[in-house]
Amino acid sequence: MSDYDVLIIGTGAAGLTAALALADAGKKVAVLAKGKLGGGATEWAQGGIAAVLEDEDSFDNHIGDTIVAGAGLNDPDIVEFVVERAPAAIQRLADLGVPFNLGSDGDWHLTREGGHSHRRIVHVHDATGWAVAQALEKAAVLHDNVTLLPNMVAIDLVQGKHGVEFSTSGSVYGVYGYNRESGEVETLTARATVMAAGGAGRTYQFSTAPRGATGDGIAMAWRAGCRVANMEFMQFHPTCLYNLEVKNFLITEAVRGEGGILRHPETGERFMAKYDERLELAPRDIVARANDAEIKRDGLDYVHLDISHRGPDFVKQHFPNIYEKLIGLGIDITSEPIPVVPAQHYTCGGVVVDKHGRTDAPGLYAAGEVTMSGLHGANRLASNSLLECFVFGEAAADHIIQCWDKLPEPIAIRDWDESRVTDSDEEVVIQQVWGEIRRFMWNFVGIVRTTKRLERARNRIDLLRKEVNDYYGSFRVTPDLIELRNLVEVADLIIRSALSRKESRGLHYTLDYPETAEEAVDTVLVP
Ligand code: FAD
Ligand code: SIN
Repeated sequence: MSDYDVLIIGTGAAGLTAALALADAGKKVAVLAKGKLGGGATEWAQGGIAAVLEDEDSFDNHIGDTIVAGAGLNDPDIVEFVVERAPAAIQRLADLGVPFNLGSDGDWHLTREGGHSHRRIVHVHDATGWAVAQALEKAAVLHDNVTLLPNMVAIDLVQGKHGVEFSTSGSVYGVYGYNRESGEVETLTARATVMAAGGAGRTYQFSTAPRGATGDGIAMAWRAGCRVANMEFMQFHPTCLYNLEVKNFLITEAVRGEGGILRHPETGERFMAKYDERLELAPRDIVARANDAEIKRDGLDYVHLDISHRGPDFVKQHFPNIYEKLIGLGIDITSEPIPVVPAQHYTCGGVVVDKHGRTDAPGLYAAGEVTMSGLHGANRLASNSLLECFVFGEAAADHIIQCWDKLPEPIAIRDWDESRVTDSDEEVVIQQVWGEIRRFMWNFVGIVRTTKRLERARNRIDLLRKEVNDYYGSFRVTPDLIELRNLVEVADLIIRSALSRKESRGLHYTLDYPETAEEAVDTVLVP
């Protein structure tokens, strides 16, 4: 007998959406978070969720904008699948109690973001993710069929084959998890497992992503035999606050959507006109490269983003969270510009899934930022990410429910073996290697790339990979060691993917191949 019917790794938008749909269908579900429940990117989302909700807009417009931003690498079938399900997903969230902002006519208040041809973003002021997370968590806590397991760090997927004693390959039947409270490794089994462990932003020195975005889900699925695709497409957000104390506070794209202007901090020039006719509302990759170019060309620390011309009432009403945060840092955004820099923001690539969230490993599904579903292509359109979490969380749950009778019971699983490892007396190594990876990923695998820089990164990751694997084989696991092992794995996947793309497309921009190839082809890595 398994411990649960379904195990879900991740309590973000994707994980909790799947959990609630499965629980409503009577399945006993356990949902793991490696720290507190809301420790992922979902709580941090600001701008909102994209959906066609006004008469002047259409699914075709949203599909077209997604594919233009994605530089043609998107899977059109999947884009259509997601876009058409967006209005129903928003309604489900509203029914769960998410207090979306409404306009004076009582309809949704829609804001605008880069790359969108229409106002299309439903939001809760400038803290949409927090409101969504509260509603999902509350529903999960109250549901009898959901067991929430915070502080449980998944280490690796449990695999096996019926008829083969203690096999370590084959179908996925759960995970080994490090329980932070007891310090023990537990074996958790289930008939189906959903990987919803979020992205890998913390492979980079500067990132808007939370501390836990170390690519654990991508690395675990890769080690379990799943294909991983399009990892070179790391999205850099153009406007992260530049502040020496607060290193990763996002200034939402909706600030530009509502009229925010980017200016050179010394000359005051509105520089986006030099880069794109859509100015500040060009897709993110273009605006991030423009900011990066201005900063590098003139040796600046940052550029300015100015929304003060919209007046204090408008600014405070639309961006209360940002206003409060920045006033606390001595910046009054109603009367002065905000210093901003680009920073890593989103992982477009990930574990390959089909329309039902199925991965290559039998019994393993995946949803959310951990995946490459085909929605985003070479660059994610703003506010399409939470949407993907809701649509694929639901799709994976539906498929598990439909195929329930065909999913085999877990087999006997070998317990975690610590007989050949000892406690580490060299933990400083972990911090050192972690810092080194994040620095060279930023410098060599960043917004603008060259083959030489990528090769440098590859040489370093080869050395560090060996060092980390030796360390992992010798010492008892700790949460930091688990994350470092995954970080190295994912950095390696990013570098290999970037080296194999011999063109510039979307977020992958290399000076050695500045042109875009005629045919758009995914970078698929096979374990
Ligand atoms: P997350 O919400 O990141 O959750 C990951 C979960 O996995 C966490 O519970 C974590 O504890 C768990 N986990 C990870 N590793 C392990 C492990 N080893 N063991 C156990 N558990 C594990 N997108 C939009 O569409 N609109 C926005 O406005 C928007 N704003 C954003 C603002 C910021 C600052 C950031 C960083 C991102 C933003 N995004 C936005 C992107 C979006 O928030 C994320 O892509 C999305 O929330 C990802 O949800 P998820 O469920 O896939 O993962
Ligand atoms: C933002 O609010 O700028 C982030 C939106 C997103 O990442 O989709």
